[in-house]
Amino acid sequence: MSEKVVGLLVGREDTFPKPFLEVVDRKGGPHGVRAEMVLFGGAKLDEEPRYSVIVDRISHEVPYYRAHLKGEVLKGTVVVNDPFWWEADEKYFECVLARRLGVAVPKTVVLPNKSYISDINELSLRNLRYPLDWDGIIEYIGLPAILKPNTGGGWKDVFRVDSKEELLWAYDQTGSAAFGYRPKTMILQEFIKWQDYVRCICIGRTHVYPMRYDPTAPFHERYVIDRPIEGELRERAVHDATALVDALGYDMDTVEFAVRDGTLYAIDFLNPAPDFDSFSIKDEAFAWVLDRMSDLVIDYALGRARPPWRGEHRWWRFAR
Ligand SMILES: Nc1ncnc2c1ncn2[C@@H]1O[C@H](COP(=O)(O)OP(=O)(O)O)[C@@H](O)[C@H]1O
Ligand SMILES: [Mg+2]
Repeated sequence: MSEKVVGLLVGREDTFPKPFLEVVDRKGGPHGVRAEMVLFGGAKLDEEPRYSVIVDRISHEVPYYRAHLKGEVLKGTVVVNDPFWWEADEKYFECVLARRLGVAVPKTVVLPNKSYISDINELSLRNLRYPLDWDGIIEYIGLPAILKPNTGGGWKDVFRVDSKEELLWAYDQTGSAAFGYRPKTMILQEFIKWQDYVRCICIGRTHVYPMRYDPTAPFHERYVIDRPIEGELRERAVHDATALVDALGYDMDTVEFAVRDGTLYAIDFLNPAPDFDSFSIKDEAFAWVLDRMSDLVIDYALGRARPPWRGEHRWWRFAR
């Protein structure tokens, strides 16, 4: 029996890696599966892939990892999550998809960038409506509203705006030097004045762990454990979160809902490297994550499960 290696790619997080590697070794060992931290650097075309499975928690920040991972996929490694889809995914697209799935989302508009790299001039932009119909956009979305990046995370550059003036001020910031040389594409979203808030950790597209969440608390106190999500709210959160991760093909994700007048609005479900830190999600959820994640990668390593995106790209015909 040839040994199967599961690799882990991580960023700064420190509580998840060691226990994850240990649990995969413990459960996978008898089946010839073991786990280690990935070591990458200078991928060569002819190199044989070392890993049967790679859990990728950081390629959104380290572009070289993503480039390397794309090659590994073609060479036969199962990468969680699909680096091709993760790179393509955006919040506006996801909102359109949610509507198709019957999952409620806030009214959303995607906006042209505020500014461009210096080589772009009026000729390059002649297909853009200018000025934008801000009054029409505000009439559709309503106020207050949320202006946030179409791709992003960690609450970076998320603005709540209460008036047209605040909106235009915030939009202008997205073209400023503070945004670096690649101004972000932003979406404007109806602000959901929620009475309750639910965050679901989703693994393997079928396992969902809903938790009450307080977005107004400091980061490490946001997951609320003494008031579990129960009954119909739980059922609906699980149902809608499953519909979203199944459609998106994410094997790890978190899906966040703001609950207003009994309706669950999906707010953020583009979290393909979800927070797994034990101090954040707390002990019970952390144990659940270790259990589900280890089962997932062991099943992939042993060929007992097939990644959702296998066969989805034209080039799959040439994959190993
Ligand atoms: N449409 C909205 N209505 C109400 N609150 C929102 C809305 N969009 C974002 N928020 C709040 O802002 C936070 C950050 O937005 P989010 O879309 O999760 O950005 P990020 O991808 O940076 O995490 C959310 O957790 C939520 O509390
Ligand atoms: Mg978020």
